[in-house]
Amino acid sequence: MTLKEKLAAARGRPAGSEPAGTASVPAAAAPTASAPASPEIGHEEPSPPAPPAPSRETLGRPLTLQEKLAAARSGGAGAAARAAKPSPRPAASPATSPAARAASSRAVPPLEQATDPRDLAEHLRRAGAEQAKKAQGSTAKAAPTSKAAPRKAESKVVPPRPGREVAVSATSRRGLLRVGFWIAAGWAAFTAGMATLLAGSARFFFPNVLAEPPSTIKVGSPGDFEKGQVEERWKAEWGFWIVRSDAYDGEDKIYALSSICTHLGCPPNWLASEQKFKCPCHGSGFYISGVNFEGPAPRPLERYKLTLGDDGQLVVDKSQKYQEELGQWTDPESYFKV
Ligand code: FES
Repeated sequence: MTLKEKLAAARGRPAGSEPAGTASVPAAAAPTASAPASPEIGHEEPSPPAPPAPSRETLGRPLTLQEKLAAARSGGAGAAARAAKPSPRPAASPATSPAARAASSRAVPPLEQATDPRDLAEHLRRAGAEQAKKAQGSTAKAAPTSKAAPRKAESKVVPPRPGREVAVSATSRRGLLRVGFWIAAGWAAFTAGMATLLAGSARFFFPNVLAEPPSTIKVGSPGDFEKGQVEERWKAEWGFWIVRSDAYDGEDKIYALSSICTHLGCPPNWLASEQKFKCPCHGSGFYISGVNFEGPAPRPLERYKLTLGDDGQLVVDKSQKYQEELGQWTDPESYFKV
């Protein structure tokens, strides 16, 4: 047999039935193990042809999608069986001998209307190609991210910039200065308090000297006072009256009478109409001589030392007192006899 006859026998059609110029083999009928081997090549008995894939004609109903896919997956065997039948479609040119190019050049019906296993196989091939393209696209998109990742990792391991170290050190130095300031302020306040306490304690080591007013006062010449007169000009500042009277012992005398009540120290008032000293605190009354006669006062008013100075003026010395109950009013310095 010639090669052409052998191929025709393998396809299950007579040698003369193949139209001229259709030497190309369909994609599904590509050399497969199911195709009958040539006796010259394998020196084996031709194997029985594979059972044809179910089709709309054989089943009497439209193929389901699963049946179409199964027929497409087993399209090689079915294609060999269909090769025996003359295909109504024009065969591909010898220049497009590869099965995929031949199938793609044909008008492939939609998957829902496809009944030919070759069409189904073409659909599968296109779906695979699209998936491969998508996979390549996703890989191309993922590539930049995979390249950027090391950059991020590198940025993480980059040591901190010197400026940040300077800022951190400046902040910590500022905090230390603030803490130091408050410590110094606390110690300064404590030292000031201790110094104040020490100064207050040291004050007690020195005597409290008061400026005492002079105890001697010039009140004028004896002729300035009239008999029975009570002069009050020195009462407020010096605390005594100058009295000229003979009420005590019948002698005309001038004496300096203290203006301090002998009860509790209130200053009595001179009542000229009543010719008596009256204490406003508890009502003690004193004669013009100073002798008490009413109220709680226990004793007469006191007298101060009265002398005639070299200049002819009477001088009162408050440092020396004379008390009647002690018999001191008889002392010549307790009065000035006119
Ligand atoms: Fe003068 Fe009491 S103080 S009567």
